[in-house]
Amino acid sequence: MTDQHPALNTISAGKLRLANRAAVAPMSRVSTHGDGVPTGAMTEYYRRFAAGGFGLVITEGTYTDREFAQAYPNQPGMTTETQEQAWRRIAEAIHAEGGTVFMQLMHGGALSQHLSGTRAASAIQPLRTMLAGYSRKQGLFPKPQAMNLAEIDAAIDGFVQAAQRAERAGFDGVEIHAANGYLLDQFLTDYTNLREDQYGGPVRNRIRLTAEVITAVTRAVGSDFVTGVRLSQGKVNDFDYLWGGGLADGEVIFSAVHEAGADYIHFASEGQGFDHGCLTREGDSLTKLARDVTGLPLIANGGLHNPSEARRILDEGHGDLVAIGTGALVNPDWPKKIAMGQRLLDFDPGMFGNGVDVESQFRWEASRDGDSHAMAA
Ligand SMILES: Cc1cc2nc3c(=O)[nH]c(=O)nc-3n(C[C@H](O)[C@H](O)[C@H](O)COP(=O)(O)O)c2cc1C
Repeated sequence: MTDQHPALNTISAGKLRLANRAAVAPMSRVSTHGDGVPTGAMTEYYRRFAAGGFGLVITEGTYTDREFAQAYPNQPGMTTETQEQAWRRIAEAIHAEGGTVFMQLMHGGALSQHLSGTRAASAIQPLRTMLAGYSRKQGLFPKPQAMNLAEIDAAIDGFVQAAQRAERAGFDGVEIHAANGYLLDQFLTDYTNLREDQYGGPVRNRIRLTAEVITAVTRAVGSDFVTGVRLSQGKVNDFDYLWGGGLADGEVIFSAVHEAGADYIHFASEGQGFDHGCLTREGDSLTKLARDVTGLPLIANGGLHNPSEARRILDEGHGDLVAIGTGALVNPDWPKKIAMGQRLLDFDPGMFGNGVDVESQFRWEASRDGDSHAMAA
């Protein structure tokens, strides 16, 4: 008992009551048939994580309105009755396996590979090019128009309505996606936000929209329903970006989301390990700061499928939970494997060779059945 991996311990902190500290990180799988309605394959994909012992499943980023929020062509949405009913089946499948599920709510802003007329904090050409595997489009993102105040209100309302749908569909909570370069992060980031109104300028203004979304959502849902927020320094189109003001920025940002009513903070690292994304330029831990400043439960992320790294993060107080992304795709039963001391599979980028959708993943799994999957048993 004494050397049980700390990710397997239960957690009861604030509104979070979870069977263990292992969460599936949100991962966009662009697997709908163009209508934003989750499919049966997605239900099975999500169910497996709960069956594999993950206490918490956070869904992929789900678009919140039909005007300007959608980032990818086959991304799921939470904007219609049909989408809501299909998500209900996913929530039920996860609950039937004993898991808890939060829906990540996402507005793509300028980083849309689906829309042509995009909206963002300011009319700034996004860095770099569209992501491979998420759509057929390639090349530069379209240059967005700056949002006016009515469009900002409409975006907030989209988050509220999607959260209410998630609650009605049986989800246990929502996670507001304010990370990785999408709309809310475009407002937070100095070089994508040149506004001169209350949403621009110092960091306390640039985090305002995220805080307003959190407050609006928490007011619109029941008192047991969880509202978390995901933050990051890095972006899908700028991996190495760090907050210019380091810990001082962190203090303002974490305090703002706490005061706005967030129930937890999830800090993301863009695929290059925890230290790459979660430390300041000076090497200080932003996740530790977030816990100290707010007292909220903290989900850490970035290369934490490695059991000794996950143990270090939990033992050293960088987080209360670990969110596992790519490692969970190849080990949907990561918690069970850890409990039984079984060998973990390494993530193989070949899984995304035909796109990041779930059906391509299942085909990839079938094609390698009998080799490394058997080795893991
Ligand atoms: C295919 C794929 C899709 C992703 N989509 C999302 C997303 O929708 N929302 C989000 O916040 N992060 C997304 N991420 C980032 C992951 O949640 C996670 O931060 C990243 O993979 C690093 O964690 P890892 O080292 O455990 O893989 C995605 C990552 C991958 C690989």
